[in-house]
Amino acid sequence: MKTTRITKTLKSIVVAGAIISSSTLLAADGAALYNKCAGCHGSAGEKVALGKSKVIADMSEADLVASLNGYKDGSYGGAMKGLMKGQVTNLSEDDIKTLSAHIVSLKK
Ligand code: HEC
Repeated sequence: MKTTRITKTLKSIVVAGAIISSSTLLAADGAALYNKCAGCHGSAGEKVALGKSKVIADMSEADLVASLNGYKDGSYGGAMKGLMKGQVTNLSEDDIKTLSAHIVSLKK
């Protein structure tokens, strides 16, 4: 009787813990990936990077994914696309999705 109750309590703690850690992990991922972008694009994606880029906080998630993939495969960009290619070369498809969702979430 008593053991069952303890087991139940333990189970709910474990479940709650798993939910919390998985959601914070996702959030941390996007923020961690965005760290190296913030220097040029601003901590909220609000800057015109090096006086050249669009304000990425104003872009839609779909446009962000498309442009980042485009920099990666060389099909997108302006005069400074080589610089952005270097930024995204090592990002996976999932990284690009996570990063784009994070950038959209930065908008106030
Ligand atoms: C050294 C400065 C610098 C860093 C770091 C940087 N960017 Fe950029 N970014 C630029 C510049 C400059 C452009 C415009 C490039 C061009 O000519 O197409 C740009 C363009 C972009 C665009 C497309 C906007 C447009 O103008 O069409 C996106 C999206 C973007 N960057 C996201 C990111 C992300 C995400 C990261 C981090 C992984 C990052 N950038 C890191 C400088 C930077």
